[in-house]
Amino acid sequence: MHQDLEEILFSAEEIAAGVKRLGAALAAEYRGSDPLFIGVLKGAVVFLSDLIRAVEIPLHYDFIAVSSYGKATKSSGQVQFLKDVGQSIEGRDVVLVEDIVDTGLTLKYLLENLRTRGPRTLKVCTLLDKPERRQVEIKPDYNGFVVPDRFLVGYGLDFADRYRNLPYIGVLKPEIYRVSSNHGKIRTKY
Ligand code: PRP
Repeated sequence: MHQDLEEILFSAEEIAAGVKRLGAALAAEYRGSDPLFIGVLKGAVVFLSDLIRAVEIPLHYDFIAVSSYGKATKSSGQVQFLKDVGQSIEGRDVVLVEDIVDTGLTLKYLLENLRTRGPRTLKVCTLLDKPERRQVEIKPDYNGFVVPDRFLVGYGLDFADRYRNLPYIGVLKPEIYRVSSNHGKIRTKY
């Protein structure tokens, strides 16, 4: 285990089992529809990479990126596109893929925006759901694990852009995020 963690919440094996379960469910729903999976950069990259290989039907994938100014700004609804998908989603079956749904503000913004583009269907698949932190009423259609309100890193999740490549998901020691700063801002997100 990485020395900055106090415990591992989900091992690589547990994550793989969750991804396999989600992949099978998604394959059953989208068989024959050539769905478009859209990963939200950067956190969802690791999950999306494994997920698409667990969905054993033809599919396409793409990415979007939204601004992340930290909690205060996000709460005011100021989420903006940094990178959009490179194709029309009109008439498509779209699956938005997230690593974690926390306050739900990112997802609310993305769903509202994508809906205006006329997808045939639009659903959300997240690896982790942290409902205790929710500020808007949003429930993912597919969820790997419900997680407690603790600072989680690994498997795409970061603190100050670190720990994303850990193969498991763990709880960061409080002394790490209390003394560290991210461009001058203390992040207390996860
Ligand atoms: C994280 C995560 C979601 C969002 C969830 O991304 O990947 O996109 O925050 O938080 P919310 O429900 O409170 O809106 P972050 O902004 O940290 O960027 P990253 O994916 O590049 O790590």
